[in-house]
Amino acid sequence: MTKSRIGIVGFGTVGSGIYKILSSEVDSHPILKEIEIAKIAVKDLYKKRGIELDDNLLTDDPFKLINDPSIDLIVEVMGGLDLAKDIILKSLKSGKSVVTANKAVIARYGEEIYETATKEGVYILSEAAVCGGIPIIEPLKRSLKSNSIRKMVGIINGTTNFILSKMTNEKADYNQTLKLAQTLGYAEFDPTADVEGHDAADKISILSELAFGGKIKRDKINTEGISKINLKDIEYANKLGFEIKLLALSERRKVNSNNSLPLNIWVGPSLIPKSHPLAAVEGVNNALLIEADPLGEIMLYGPGAGSGPTAASVVSDILNIHATSIKKNNSIDPLLSFDFWRNCHIIESSQITKKNYLRIICLDSPGVIGKIGDIFGNNNVSIESIVQLDASADKAEIVVITHEVNTGKFEKSKKEINSLKEVKIIASQLSCI
Ligand code: NAP
Ligand code: HSE
Repeated sequence: MTKSRIGIVGFGTVGSGIYKILSSEVDSHPILKEIEIAKIAVKDLYKKRGIELDDNLLTDDPFKLINDPSIDLIVEVMGGLDLAKDIILKSLKSGKSVVTANKAVIARYGEEIYETATKEGVYILSEAAVCGGIPIIEPLKRSLKSNSIRKMVGIINGTTNFILSKMTNEKADYNQTLKLAQTLGYAEFDPTADVEGHDAADKISILSELAFGGKIKRDKINTEGISKINLKDIEYANKLGFEIKLLALSERRKVNSNNSLPLNIWVGPSLIPKSHPLAAVEGVNNALLIEADPLGEIMLYGPGAGSGPTAASVVSDILNIHATSIKKNNSIDPLLSFDFWRNCHIIESSQITKKNYLRIICLDSPGVIGKIGDIFGNNNVSIESIVQLDASADKAEIVVITHEVNTGKFEKSKKEINSLKEVKIIASQLSCI
């Protein structure tokens, strides 16, 4: 088994999430066991971390990791600009591939970093830098490559979406909700980057470079944040049928004479009709709509920040790089190929558990709902709701929604209900999620 030894710089929200994934015994692909954490660099060696950790793993000198020849790959999840850039470039120059979650560095120094990696024949991967746990960078680099991207628009900052959702749904206070986002590990070290839109601008800059192939002047992105939005704006927008979201947009316009592709890129708080798919994106979730030819429109959606989701993206990048080292040893890339690695079987249909919807047409006679409820109760089928609709002289419709229950017990209940003298027919049965 080829192992990759990694050095992690930073052990905060994201770094500790990476450690948890790589040291957990959760049932996951065996390739994860091929990644070994060699060293972790932190700022404060004496900080209480609430995680059981071998003290020998820690150092307060990130450059020790770069200079250690036994370490194959550096993971930069420290954040910040100058030191992080230095660590990334020095790692690449020492022949080590780098995985980073640092959008601020990639958005500003991407060109120099990508060129250095190519020159040194190593990789720089940054899936976690944009939209935390949602795969966006790899799809743009690979799966969507056969398309011409027309437009990307989305919610790409978790902190601000969390704040706006809480202000909308709970009339929550802006400052208190920002503090909560910091406690939950969503916000940047300096949350000004989130609330003033700079974090989203970094991300749309990175996405635009990948989608359209040209260098983006990061400072030219027109950027506005949410710090001036108040509950009145949200209330009025809602009355008019809109949600307020912090949007980032990037779209191509017609090529002009000097053959440079004109791009319309901005970040700003925006009104979205409630019927629009982005309006339903709540809390720390992010979503990006991509319009492309010939594909059409797709939406990528999921958690945009937080320890576990972001760490999962970082670990996927680590595995992608690890897979290339396996290939060098003349074997096939285990992430591009597929090998069965355990036995699976489908459980008997009577043992399946699911939520159910049942519409029963019966006589509108006293006690019928009670009888139906009793049958479900006697069979240990828990009911979420039971209502009578459309009662008329000769019939009533009863709709039952169960909790997630054993299908065998549900089917037995159904048979018993069907045999009640008051029941005319079970008109429909559907699954619920
Ligand atoms: P964090 O919780 O503040 O953790 C930063 C870590 O870096 C801490 O462990 C800190 O050490 C360490 N550190 C700081 N200065 C250092 C130095 N000079 N030498 C060695 N270690 C140093 O940050 P985070 O939320 O994990 O974010 C890390 C990166 O991931 C940032 O670039 C961020 O933008 C990005 N990101 C974060 C999220 C998220 O949801 N949080 C999502 C996507 C991307 P101590 O522990 O000793 O203080
Ligand atoms: N602060 C960022 C956010 C972290 O809230 O989206 C994920 O990039």
